[in-house]
Amino acid sequence: MLVQPIHNNSQSAHVVVLGNEKGGSGKSTTALHIAVALLKAGQRVATIDLDSRQKSFTHYIENRRAWAERAGLKLETPTHYCVERAEGASVEANEAQEFANFSQAIAKIEHTHDVVVIDTPGNDTYLMRLAHSMADTLVTPLNDSFVDFDVLATLDPTNFAVTGESHYAEMVREARRQRRLVDGRLTDWIVVRNRLSQLGSRNKRLVGEGIAELAKRMGFRCVDGFAERVVYREFFPRGLTALDDLDETTLGTRPNMSHVTAREEVIALLNALHLPLTENGKRRAAARAEWYSVMDQPLQVHDVLA
Ligand SMILES: Nc1ncnc2c1ncn2[C@@H]1O[C@H](COP(=O)(O)OP(=O)(O)O)[C@@H](O)[C@H]1O
Ligand SMILES: [Mg+2]
Repeated sequence: MLVQPIHNNSQSAHVVVLGNEKGGSGKSTTALHIAVALLKAGQRVATIDLDSRQKSFTHYIENRRAWAERAGLKLETPTHYCVERAEGASVEANEAQEFANFSQAIAKIEHTHDVVVIDTPGNDTYLMRLAHSMADTLVTPLNDSFVDFDVLATLDPTNFAVTGESHYAEMVREARRQRRLVDGRLTDWIVVRNRLSQLGSRNKRLVGEGIAELAKRMGFRCVDGFAERVVYREFFPRGLTALDDLDETTLGTRPNMSHVTAREEVIALLNALHLPLTENGKRRAAARAEWYSVMDQPLQVHDVLA
């Protein structure tokens, strides 16, 4: 499978890719939280869904737009594109078509936006590889389970030491190599532990040790992301995130401690990603924060993001 990276020069938007060759690890949920956090930080954000079969990211954003309109709310939404897969008989023709579809979406946004957040499918596709090879920041959410760890590495069953790299880790290594060939930059790869149990367990500790060992070997950073919380599942029909002003109008119920803690963990994740926020964006966010303080509103997320 030939992957030609799309050149992304220094004037272009910063590319954040959500990837993990496994469904259900939290890519789409994390993608929307990152996009909304950046919008709230004054950044001009575009989003691309490459999972055109499931379209979870697209539906999440459509739900957000529809709910904002219906409830008369101001919910920030990104400029969004869903890139369709080509389904013809020839692999070469499909790849050429998909490359064209993807390049067109990138060309429309790369010079007018500060950040592009790209969600990818949980299986190995041409478009998913292409996105990995142009990532400035690659975020891999990983459920806290050895079944999910298996896409990154194999383990010795006696002492749980890492014995080898799995297919997804090898694919990322190759994509990073290609990214480096294009402009000498190294993709910042961050593995984000998701759906963490709120209680300590042997499994949680052993998975953590395996990730830490692999991080050194593969050159990624590992951060604790979101705990297992039912609120993340409830957000989808209204397209909400833990960062929105959650009250009875937005949420349909009074927010609880879980919403507050979820917001804190999303802010902690965003800070850990070290995404470059543009000065213009920071000024926009500061102006809005000033407006909020004049209006005597509660603390907003853009005040907190570093
Ligand atoms: N931290 C979390 N706590 C509870 N449920 C979660 C969490 N993160 C994701 N989910 C749920 O897990 C499922 C898979 O998440 P999703 O973001 O669609 O993953 P992916 O895009 O990797 O397939 C969804 O039902 C989502 O609501
Ligand atoms: Mg998804």
